[in-house]
Amino acid sequence: MFITLEGPEGSGKSSQIPALAQYLEAQGYRVLCTREPGGTSIGDQIRAVLTSMDNPELLPRTEILLFLAARAQLVAQVIRPALREGKVVLCDRYGDSTLAYQGYGHGLDLNSLRAMLNFATEGLKPDLTLLMDLDIKTGLARKKSIDEWNRLDAYEVSFHERVRAGYLQLAEEEPERWQRVDASKPKDEVQTMLRQIVLQRLKDKI
Ligand code: TYD
Repeated sequence: MFITLEGPEGSGKSSQIPALAQYLEAQGYRVLCTREPGGTSIGDQIRAVLTSMDNPELLPRTEILLFLAARAQLVAQVIRPALREGKVVLCDRYGDSTLAYQGYGHGLDLNSLRAMLNFATEGLKPDLTLLMDLDIKTGLARKKSIDEWNRLDAYEVSFHERVRAGYLQLAEEEPERWQRVDASKPKDEVQTMLRQIVLQRLKDKI
């Protein structure tokens, strides 16, 4: 089963995934965790270009092609093989980040983005997407406080507001795939919610 975690900046995805993976392993599932952009050697090199503060001239179109290049590599090299082996794949961001950030955030055409996503992933879609939803000011403040500030976070607040609204819209369009989690809640509570949702979905799938 292919599970993705999505959400605006500072929603805590990255810190929740290891505990969620550990829990699922304790329940007897084999789990693979990965993240975007990155997750492969080529992807990590692309990630460095995308997040560097030295690249302020990077255009939205260039940005999307780099995200998609990293994703194509990750899907073929890591995600599909793990799914074939029957693993649960937990991926920190995936195609919906492209729709939310490049589509809703930067205003690139959503239909073109969907076609490009389809090309890059050869049509691989998540079975379940967890939306870690959080208001923008709290999220950005969290990120600044832990010194994880990168080029993409430095876009203006209105950009991040559009991203969040985009996520909520995407979740509304495909309610059977998305589950919204209130990421403003304390860390432990969020973890408990994530475990419940994922375990239920895994049981339903059998
Ligand atoms: P990262 O430091 O991993 O942020 P986070 O911890 O919030 O996931 O940086 C990834 C950034 O890339 C983040 O700002 C979202 C952005 N992004 C896109 O704009 N489009 C995409 O397709 C992906 C995968 C990420």
